[in-house]
Amino acid sequence: MCGIFGIVTEREQELGPILIEAGKRLSYRGYDSVGFATMDASQTVDLRKDVGKVGDVAGGHGVAGMKGLRGMTQLRWATFGAPSQANAQPHLDSTGDMVGAHNGNVVNNAELRAQFMAEGMAVRSTNDGESCVHAVERYLREGLGTQEAVRRACADLEGDYAFVIGRKNEDCLYAVKMGSGLVAGLGDGFTCVGSDLPCLLPLTRKIVRLRDGEMVILRGGGIEVRRIADGTLVDRPAQDVEETMEAAQKGGYPHFMLKEIHEQPKVAQDLLHLLGASKHMKRFVDRLKGARNLYFVGCGTSYHACVLGSVYMARLAGKAAVPVLAPQFTAQYVPALGPGDVGVFVSQSGETKDVLGALEAARAKGATVLGLANVLGSSLMHASDVYLPLACGFEISVPATKTFTNQCVAFLALALRAAGKDLTVLDALPSLIEATLGAVDGPVKELAPTLAGRNDLYCLGYGLTYAIALEGALKIKEVTYTHCEGMLSTEFKHGPLSAVDEGFPILFVAGPEDVPLMVSGINETACRGARTVVIAQEDPRLRANARGVLVLPPSDPLLAPILGVIPLQLLSYRLSVARGHDPDFPRNLSKTLTVD
Ligand code: G6P
Repeated sequence: MCGIFGIVTEREQELGPILIEAGKRLSYRGYDSVGFATMDASQTVDLRKDVGKVGDVAGGHGVAGMKGLRGMTQLRWATFGAPSQANAQPHLDSTGDMVGAHNGNVVNNAELRAQFMAEGMAVRSTNDGESCVHAVERYLREGLGTQEAVRRACADLEGDYAFVIGRKNEDCLYAVKMGSGLVAGLGDGFTCVGSDLPCLLPLTRKIVRLRDGEMVILRGGGIEVRRIADGTLVDRPAQDVEETMEAAQKGGYPHFMLKEIHEQPKVAQDLLHLLGASKHMKRFVDRLKGARNLYFVGCGTSYHACVLGSVYMARLAGKAAVPVLAPQFTAQYVPALGPGDVGVFVSQSGETKDVLGALEAARAKGATVLGLANVLGSSLMHASDVYLPLACGFEISVPATKTFTNQCVAFLALALRAAGKDLTVLDALPSLIEATLGAVDGPVKELAPTLAGRNDLYCLGYGLTYAIALEGALKIKEVTYTHCEGMLSTEFKHGPLSAVDEGFPILFVAGPEDVPLMVSGINETACRGARTVVIAQEDPRLRANARGVLVLPPSDPLLAPILGVIPLQLLSYRLSVARGHDPDFPRNLSKTLTVD
């Protein structure tokens, strides 16, 4: 997830160290490249940027010595354009007199770049941050003042973003908030702006929180907040904030896991924007459709997304895909693999050794290898013939939540495209996730204490929800240290039923098409004393049979499994906290497993 920071001072000073420290404070968001720009009293724009870590880029480019009255830094998490020096931010306008950097996604980037080139501007990268700069340049060329040009530019830029921009021969920076985070700070002899509170906190605790559709004009002595639509002044006094750095990084949530669960509507939206604009999508889909044999390969949570992905693929595109755990893929399918076969390798980190090993084995047999990963610049990304990102930003908490959701979103989008359909059914997903979070939060809080003492649970699903049962069970295992098994609901009678006694908890995840089957499963276990809880859309048949229901909002059956995982994520989080554990860093587990 990109991050921006800008500062304006009353007196010229060494801004380099301030920018480096601000960059380090943004780095928890995740990034692959970093850049710094300053403007000094002689009004030259000094821009230094590269791929790499803040310390390395700053060291390699002498950033500590950069001086000026105005400065900005940007950490880039690549989405539009590969990680490269040209795509690193900030970016210059055609003449080099203006510099700016953004955070977020400008989804009409490709169209805008073509327009800017046709208008004779110097477009130097494929990155959408550069489009923000040229969008302002376009209106400066028409003779508008900077403030108005910035406002007009926002009407041309589609997507969710924030950007900061400055011109030589002026004394201010401009920053806009259009869907991405932005806060301004007031200090003694300086003002600043950043993507989030933690990057400002060591500099000042006098904060003005911007709202979407607002811009801020920063000068050394103070700030002005204006509405982007009509330029009117907004009267918003600064507030003194008391959050600690750590609390601020968690965005007000007690743990990263809860924060990341609540980020899901936003990251799903970001991914849908990205897939809609991605030129890799068609290449990816063509290879899926043309596969002789198709395999979806991953470990842990990513494998569960593969299981759901294969159901989507068969149901929508009529194409069978074998979901398989990576080491078993190597043992079981690689011996039979050959040219014409296709593997989709799925990983949050893009570094899981089991997955990379399976990928290399597939490649050695001449198969096509496709990648789906969250971390840009990861080994999986580099090793794949075609690659799609998951656009989740940095996932800090060890249990994967938002990355699972976006893996499922990606698979559904791929299956729809492979079926020759558009992605309209997915449009409703971000707001449905939001609605689910709102609807199940209270009931999950009530349910958790009643289950927190149990050391054995089952989580059952069928068809589209089978993968969700597996994933829910893994989440609960990871963060509660209890045994929780995910199974196909119909399999429960073939063995585990013998474990059921009075009060034995079983969670059912029911898709709207599978209610009669689930009602049988519920009764089969309830009559032996099981405590049955169903996660499903409202349905009188489930209500009449289950002991408890966590109600999901009505949705297309294709979206129901993605919504169904949310109460299980929240439940595992609540159970973990209730049992006194730290859900972000469960014992014995690692976010990136680079060993056999
Ligand atoms: C580890 C983590 C799991 C994760 C799995 C796969 O085991 O603890 O939560 O699902 O690796 O990780 P990946 O980065 O490949 O998705």
